[in-house]
Amino acid sequence: MAKDKDLRELFHDTLKDIYFAEKKILTALPKMAKAAQDDELRAAFEKHQKETEGHVERLEQVFGELGETPRGKTCDAIMGIIEEGQEVMKEYKGMPALDAGLLAAAQAVEHYEMSRYGSLKTWASELGLEDAAKLLDTTLSEEKKTDATLTEIAQNNVNRHAEAA
Ligand SMILES: [Fe+2]
Ligand SMILES: [Fe+2]
Repeated sequence: MAKDKDLRELFHDTLKDIYFAEKKILTALPKMAKAAQDDELRAAFEKHQKETEGHVERLEQVFGELGETPRGKTCDAIMGIIEEGQEVMKEYKGMPALDAGLLAAAQAVEHYEMSRYGSLKTWASELGLEDAAKLLDTTLSEEKKTDATLTEIAQNNVNRHAEAA
C-alpha cells in the first residue's frame, strides 16, 4: 500500500533525526553536568547521560528491525535547543540563576525527545513494528521520568536559590 510506504519513509526519516539528536545530547550532557552548581542537578545530568547511551543503542535496534543501517540526519531543532543551552552557560557563568537556566535548557531537550518518541512509537505500532514500538516506549518513559525529576529539582531548590540572590 502506498500509504504504508509513505509512513515507513517518514518513520525512517524521523528515526535518523532522533538518532542524530541523541548523539548530540550525549556530547552536551557532560558539559551541562560540569557547569551545574547544584549536586542534585549534576547527578540528574550524569544519570541521564548513562540512560542516553541506552537510547542510542535502542535506536540502533530499531534501525535493525527496519532492516536499515543506523544513520543520523542533521536535526536543526536539537542544534538550536543545545545552542541556547550553551548560551545560558556562557551568559550566566558564576551567577545564581545558572542552574535554573541549565535546568530549563535540559527540559527543552526532554520535551523535544518526548514529542519525537511519542510520534515514532505511534508510527511503529501502525507499521506493525511491535518490537520497535516497545523499545521506543521504554525510551519515552525514561525521557518523561527525567523531565519529571528536573521539574522536582527546579521546584525544590534551584528556583529558590535564584530568588534568594
Ligand atoms: Fe534520549
Ligand atoms: Fe533525554
